[in-house]
Amino acid sequence: MSELDRLQASCLFEIEHCDSLKKLDEIRTAIFGKNGKITELMKQLRALDNEQKRQLGQEINLAKTAIMERFSTKLSEIEIRDLQKKLEAEYVDVSMPVRPNAFGKIHPITKVAEELADILSSYGFMFEDGPDIEKEFFNFTALNIPDHHPARTMHDTFYLNMLADEHGRKLLRTHTSPVQHYTMISHKPPFRMFSIGRVYRSDSDATHTPMFDQVECLIVDKNIGFAHLKWILLNVLKKFFHVSELKLRFRPSFFPFTEPSVEVDIAYELKNGKMIFGTGDKWLEICGGGVVHPNVLNCGHIDTSVYQGIAIGFGLERLASLKYGIPDLRGYFESDDRWREAFGFSHVAK
Ligand code: DAH
Repeated sequence: MSELDRLQASCLFEIEHCDSLKKLDEIRTAIFGKNGKITELMKQLRALDNEQKRQLGQEINLAKTAIMERFSTKLSEIEIRDLQKKLEAEYVDVSMPVRPNAFGKIHPITKVAEELADILSSYGFMFEDGPDIEKEFFNFTALNIPDHHPARTMHDTFYLNMLADEHGRKLLRTHTSPVQHYTMISHKPPFRMFSIGRVYRSDSDATHTPMFDQVECLIVDKNIGFAHLKWILLNVLKKFFHVSELKLRFRPSFFPFTEPSVEVDIAYELKNGKMIFGTGDKWLEICGGGVVHPNVLNCGHIDTSVYQGIAIGFGLERLASLKYGIPDLRGYFESDDRWREAFGFSHVAK
């Protein structure tokens, strides 16, 4: 047996008995590395004459190929084995029954958002979305709130410290109303759309949080007006609060993007300390709305000689608090498990 044969046999033996990627890498260096066994052998070629060089060179190459082949088979064997082990260790039986008492609850905001989405979809509203990071133009200008209009300061806006472009400075959207504009420029009327999402204002106390959730509704169609706004609100809220009778009160108000504008209250009464919605002589504000201002429609490329719009904006936390009796607004965002345990909803029907 030549020296080369012995070397090849010992390399193959080592590879054969190796059982980890790390070890295999060490073996590779010991054979083919700078001072590896094969590398050393190649160095010896230099001292030989041409004929011997050719002869031994060929033999070394054959041995090299044989070792490399064994090496790559071993490598994939180990990789497959390791993956198999990992898969077995991380195996999840998705057919296991749900544990009803398992930790984790649906947040009331998610619950209320899903309820409203169901109701609004049943009236033909499509869902549209917009970005949390907005620009001045979309958050304000497109909604008939021009530069220096006092309404801009009413929204305690978080501006992002970045350069302005042709759409103004970047900011965290202060309401979901910009989605009205996106829908107008991307859809042909008639349409009904709703959007649900987070909005941000620099404000924080028991009744204000710097981040909260809004629902935006918009209808653009021919021959529509205030009566439709009233009808749709009445029916959506009846379904939401599960009542057959619902008294609403419309108070004149101001929003730059609607004219006329209203704030809407729903009637309630207290029975044994519990709020009963729909009837009674007490009132709670529930949303804002109005007939879309022609400037907003024009900016959204809607032909105002043919189409009109009505819009509604709800605060989602308020709706959730009223429906499920949740007191302090701040609890919604504190990620306290005890709060979620008390006010959250189970994933499975009980
Ligand atoms: N964007 C308003 C706000 O955040 C809420 C609102 C009021 C939305 C009236 C509307 C609307 O679509 O018609 O204060």
